[in-house]
Amino acid sequence: MERTFIALKPDTLQRGLVGDIINRFEKKGFQLLGLKLVQPPRELVEKHYEEHLGRPFYEGLVNYMTSGPIVASVWQGKNIISSSRSLLGATDPSKAAPGTIRGDLATQVGRNLVHASDSPVNAEREISLWFAAKEIQNWSRSLEPWIN
Ligand code: TYD
Ligand code: MG
Repeated sequence: MERTFIALKPDTLQRGLVGDIINRFEKKGFQLLGLKLVQPPRELVEKHYEEHLGRPFYEGLVNYMTSGPIVASVWQGKNIISSSRSLLGATDPSKAAPGTIRGDLATQVGRNLVHASDSPVNAEREISLWFAAKEIQNWSRSLEPWIN
């Protein structure tokens, strides 16, 4: 079982899509381990996106990510890191396939609704950046054998 960090960016809240996007992860069969609404300080977003420091979109990205509350979440599931990125679709929503979250619900790369960790190392790094250990629940699901 893998864990990943999923963030619903400020445009998800502005557009009232929180329930829709969480619903897609739940319906897929992923398990929610942690969930909170955060108004992130700039330093947290800068650390989160430190790999993009110096790129032309970096400043706008940090401004966007600090423009309002974010839903921060931790999810668990089989192959969840690559599988959740498939659910999101391509980074640029205009190139994302129909059926994906970005493909169905967004048009601009700078307003692409949701973040998902891209590797096991980044997943653990991002989970510990956004969550304290006590905010993550390791509960078991009795229906698991039926879903997976
Ligand atoms: P990236 O990590 O490449 O994409 P992803 O979110 O799919 O992992 O980029 C981080 C965010 O930066 C991306 O979600 C939106 C923004 N971004 C731009 O605004 N313009 C760009 O050209 C790129 C590559 C990203
Ligand atoms: Mg990324």
